[in-house]
Amino acid sequence: MIILNNNKITYNSINDIPDDEQELIKNAFMATNNSYAPYSNFHVGAALLLGNGTIIKGSNQENAAYPSGLCAERVAIFHVMNSYSDQKIKKIAITARKKDSTDYIPASPCGGCRQVMLEQEQKQQEKIEVIFQSNGNWMKVFTIMELLPFSFDKNSLK
Ligand code: THU
Repeated sequence: MIILNNNKITYNSINDIPDDEQELIKNAFMATNNSYAPYSNFHVGAALLLGNGTIIKGSNQENAAYPSGLCAERVAIFHVMNSYSDQKIKKIAITARKKDSTDYIPASPCGGCRQVMLEQEQKQQEKIEVIFQSNGNWMKVFTIMELLPFSFDKNSLK
C-alpha cells in the first residue's frame, strides 16, 4: 500500500485491500454479468455501499443509438436516488472485464460519472470513496474532489 497524498491510496495487489472493500469489489465484478454491452464488449460493474450497509449494483447498458446508453456508475447512483433516497453513499467500487473474460481490467470512472458523483457528494454532505483499477494497481480516493478538481457545480450557477 502506498499513500499518495491525504486523499488517495494505491494498492499493488487486491489482497492488500481491506476485506470489506474486497467484498464491494466482488459485488462490482458480479454486476458485470448484468452489463448489456454488445457494441463495446466492455462490461463494467459498479457496487455502492450505502450507510445502512446495503450494497447496490449497477452495470453499463448500451443501445444501438449509442448516446442513449448509460455507464454502470450512473445506473447504480440513480437507482439509489429513487429507491434508497434516505441513504448516503459511502463507497463506490468499479470493475471491468472484456466480454467472455474473467480478468479485471482498468476502468477509471468517466468524466460524466465523476460529475454525477460530485453532485451526490455535495448533496449528501459526506465524502464518497471510490475504488477502481488504474494501470494494473488498485486506487482508492477518499473524495470525488480528488477525481474532479476545478469542477463545475451548483455554485457555478449562482
Ligand atoms: N463505461 C462505464 O460503464 N463506466 C465508465 O466509467 C467508463 C465507461 C461504459 C460505457 C460503455 O458502455 C462502455 O463502458 C465503453 O465505453
